[in-house]
Amino acid sequence: MTPPILQTSAHVKYIQTLDTHSDRLDYHLTTHLRLSGVYWGLTALHLLRHPTALPRPATIAFVLSCQHPSGGFGASPAHDPHLLYTLSAIQILATVDALDALDADKTVRYIAARQTPDGCFTGDEWGEKDTRFIYCALNALSLLRRLDAVDVDAAMAYVMRCRNPDGGFGMAPQAESHAGQIFTCLGALRIGGALERLMSQDQINVLGDWLCERQLPSGGLNGRPEKLEDVCYSWWVVSSLAMVGRVGWVDGGRLEAFILGCQDVEGGGFADRAGDVADVFHTVFGVAGLSLLGYEGLEEVDPVYCMPREVTRRVLGK
Ligand code: FPP
Ligand code: ZN
Repeated sequence: MTPPILQTSAHVKYIQTLDTHSDRLDYHLTTHLRLSGVYWGLTALHLLRHPTALPRPATIAFVLSCQHPSGGFGASPAHDPHLLYTLSAIQILATVDALDALDADKTVRYIAARQTPDGCFTGDEWGEKDTRFIYCALNALSLLRRLDAVDVDAAMAYVMRCRNPDGGFGMAPQAESHAGQIFTCLGALRIGGALERLMSQDQINVLGDWLCERQLPSGGLNGRPEKLEDVCYSWWVVSSLAMVGRVGWVDGGRLEAFILGCQDVEGGGFADRAGDVADVFHTVFGVAGLSLLGYEGLEEVDPVYCMPREVTRRVLGK
């Protein structure tokens, strides 16, 4: 069967109307994710070439309303701050070219205070420690051009301690390899400028093998052995391959068909798998995955930042 084509206008409408469902329970059940939800929707809209589909002043005002006196951002106003939402806040402001609206010094102090003596980062003041938070901190600080505020070498060394003999990376030393964590570890190594220095070509090849073994007969990718395929791994796996120059190691045609099959062609949005309910998280990673595969009519995505390449070029000056 021929897969459907990308239903751009349905996806744009789906994202635009996400904020109009405050009469629905699922709207309130996702308050604890809201700021990242805005980043996912906004990024998808930019990649779909509808960058002005959300109102810019209201977007900026919402982001700023989520900043905590400590300098970190919560998912919604008055929520506790966390590195996940602090990164989303900075990514949104960078995307809409409004970083000058941010009290950057205060934000940098919050992020730098999360680094632990071994080089890793905690997500918040309560201390959950994980390679995801190294990535969040380095991504955010690099967009603010303030990587000097933390010990990047110690962070790089910690990431390398999380590398496993199967070639992958886990959330902590000796933790199971997981494609999501591989994305964060490679992203951190790229932002820290250390990937080629710290990983040999042999190590990169073993990692590339592990990543392309994630492709299943359906064409979709899973996040680790024995798991089901899921659209979001089109991002975590293929962006990782892109960061080491090996996108061609997966069968792009079959993956593209799998991703397109996960669209809700009428209501818009992408689900984790065909037939499931669409959500904005799988929507951005479906669209970004198609962009990595070179799908026609999409903006190019930056595999390290999961933002439009045009934006990272402008902000990072490269
Ligand atoms: C899978 O999670 C994904 C990860 C572990 C990576 C998460 C990455 C971040 C939070 C960094 C921010 C990302 C971007 C794009 C800016 P899961 O809990 O769905 O895993 P499961 O499939 O094993 O349940
Ligand atoms: Zn998923």
